[in-house]
Amino acid sequence: MYDVLVIGGGPGGYAAALYGASAGLSVAVVEKDKVGGTCLHRGCVPAKEFLETAAAFRAVSGALEFGISASEPKIDFSISQARKQKVVDQLWKGLSGLMKGRKIETIEGVGKYLGNGRVAVSDGRVLEGQNVILASGSVPRSIPGFEVDGKIVMTSDEVLLLETLPSSVAVIGGGAIGCEFASMMADLGAKVTILEALPQILTGVDRDVAEVVSKSFRKRGINIHSGVSVSGHTPNASGTGTSVHFGEQQSVSVEAVIVSVGRRPNSDDLLGSEASVEIDQRGFVTVDQFMRTTEQGVYAIGDLVATAQLAHVGFAEAIVAIKHILGERVIPVDYSKVPWCIYCHPEVAFAGLTEDAARAAGIDIVVKKDPFGGNSRARIIGETDGLVKVVAERLSDGSAGRILGVHMVGPWVTEQLGQGYLAINWEATPDEISQFIQPHPTLSEAFGETVMALTGRGLHVG
Ligand code: NAI
Repeated sequence: MYDVLVIGGGPGGYAAALYGASAGLSVAVVEKDKVGGTCLHRGCVPAKEFLETAAAFRAVSGALEFGISASEPKIDFSISQARKQKVVDQLWKGLSGLMKGRKIETIEGVGKYLGNGRVAVSDGRVLEGQNVILASGSVPRSIPGFEVDGKIVMTSDEVLLLETLPSSVAVIGGGAIGCEFASMMADLGAKVTILEALPQILTGVDRDVAEVVSKSFRKRGINIHSGVSVSGHTPNASGTGTSVHFGEQQSVSVEAVIVSVGRRPNSDDLLGSEASVEIDQRGFVTVDQFMRTTEQGVYAIGDLVATAQLAHVGFAEAIVAIKHILGERVIPVDYSKVPWCIYCHPEVAFAGLTEDAARAAGIDIVVKKDPFGGNSRARIIGETDGLVKVVAERLSDGSAGRILGVHMVGPWVTEQLGQGYLAINWEATPDEISQFIQPHPTLSEAFGETVMALTGRGLHVG
């Protein structure tokens, strides 16, 4: 009998195991593939490695501006694929070693929760846990008319295994995954068309930020069709491509289609008939703020529950579940203030309320923006597309109070969100933050500049 038995060794499951084991609990993880899950093997990590390949390509293309002559860059994607695999494997080995070192037992096989703390493994074993954490993650969604064949129609699972890049691609769905792939492929020379059902790409992202990304995409030759529905596709006779039909009898001929229309929870066949864990209509396991399911002693975390599908949210939920199991004081995850990072070019990073969401909620706000065009470091590195935008509540005397939202788009903003994230979650005010010195010249001082402008006295930002 383990203290904690985890089904699924992705970011949610392995974080629960590591955190639980470091608190002295005996933990086992049932994993059907490799620990690390979607994030490490089929998602965040490999996708970011390919985006870094695109960044290297852009750097070589733009080298002449710095007086460096390099020959026209060409991509051998199989080398990038091999590098990606090396990075993933190194991280996988590191994680496996870490788990072993903490005496976490990793059991290979498909786990099924039977009820009463019992988990069946596909090899026939039945294990028991005082507590069970369900963390079986999610899988890509597909849409009717676009059967995934891994050649012409792909999801992120197949794209991340490509050895050569298609010369033209239609990306269905302009969310985080769609925009990251569109950006990477366009930078590496593919002709990219994004087909998005909603009026803008990156729905949920602040309007000004999404606008900067759209402009940059268009400048780099990406065709964006938003507010369109796709009706199907007709493969060409030679089997080398297809014609994707969308909107009012429009179509685009491409070598490949990437379907990135969201991910669905991996809850099919997860539960036996005696389990009293509730699953909602969309397949998500129902949980409360402590990640408890409807069965006592059973928790669910990560992409399996209907919260933000982000690896770091899985980490946070794992900690909540383990602390609850330990009987410690638990602060639930505040989903309205989690950090979001999208690694397309230009990068996007944000936390808290967008300007539109704050206004829609009837909050009186003050907004300041600092475009990277005026930032020294951005000029130095030659990446001036982007801005930092801070949304704060407006106090009755008209001054800016608590910071409610920080939205960034531009160079390396995924690495710059930290202080914005802290400000929001610390409920800091512009007066408090502007006491702190920002190193100069840095990209990250744009946040300090924007906040200082909110005090009514900016240095470079009015
Ligand atoms: P998503 O929900 O972010 O975006 C899907 C997009 O597809 C939406 O804009 C939606 O309007 C559109 N769509 C849906 N059905 C459509 C149709 N039939 N035709 C055209 N457009 C359609 O999902 P995505 O990008 O697949 O990502 C899955 C999850 O993984 C998300 O929760 C996302 O936040 C997360 N993720 C986060 C990343 C990051 O933060 N860097 C990276 C990758 C994924």
